[in-house]
Amino acid sequence: MILDGKQTSEKVLAMVQEKVAAMEIKPHLVVILVGDNPASKIYVRNKQKAALKVGIQSTVIEMPSETAEEELLNTIEELNNDINVTGILVQLPLPKHIDKNKVITKISPLKDVDGFTPENVGRLAIGLEPYFYPATPQGIIMLLDEYNIPIEGADAVVIGRSNIVGKPMTQMLLKRNATVTTCHSYTSNIEDKIKTADIVISAVGKKIVRCKMVKKNSVVVDVGIFKDENGQLTGDVDFDLVSKSAGFISPVPGGVGPMTIASLMFNASKIYQ
Ligand code: GUN
Repeated sequence: MILDGKQTSEKVLAMVQEKVAAMEIKPHLVVILVGDNPASKIYVRNKQKAALKVGIQSTVIEMPSETAEEELLNTIEELNNDINVTGILVQLPLPKHIDKNKVITKISPLKDVDGFTPENVGRLAIGLEPYFYPATPQGIIMLLDEYNIPIEGADAVVIGRSNIVGKPMTQMLLKRNATVTTCHSYTSNIEDKIKTADIVISAVGKKIVRCKMVKKNSVVVDVGIFKDENGQLTGDVDFDLVSKSAGFISPVPGGVGPMTIASLMFNASKIYQ
């Protein structure tokens, strides 16, 4: 069965739209884009489009790639103090001369719609409710819940340990009482681990889940999205092969991508101040 992220994201967006329509004070998301990374530009445009659709005000601040770190930090400080701004998102990656962690740490945890600040990451890790969960893992949990996939007690394998997907995904699955194995470039025998998992979530950007022998009826979620050697958009999972054994599988495109955007809009609709 296909985990239809397009259809599920539309349900989430409709729910957010309804919630925002009833709000007296509307949320206002500010997205900061530094430099001209082409992929980032597309992501930011998609976020803007989604915000418009659900009635969330959005502003994009574009800064040139040579922007000084200090200037970016000052901009964030101003947005933190601006009561008309309810969400702040700094699009990653940032130019090399800017310390990403310094920038993320500057964002107010109450406006951190990405859930990337130490306060929100730490809250998730120690079992306190974060103000925001990171959009991609939260979108994946929403997708699993939509299809009533049991997480509690499941053996889950997360491939990738990024701060954006892998690590928060592991934490969120743990919070839902899964047994989680986090795999990365130093993991030996990834294939053996995949073969015994009930849930496989791959977020590496390489064709890594090739083995036909994913466990019968397991759930496979593909977070990767990149162009193959023929310029075709593809994911981490060999869909044709793996879908023969998996019970549920998310396609690329139309799986995790739209869920991430919907999940971000869910976050952006929250106002804490
Ligand atoms: N770059 C790739 N994914 C993300 C994300 O979820 N948030 C931000 N801010 N930048 C990203």
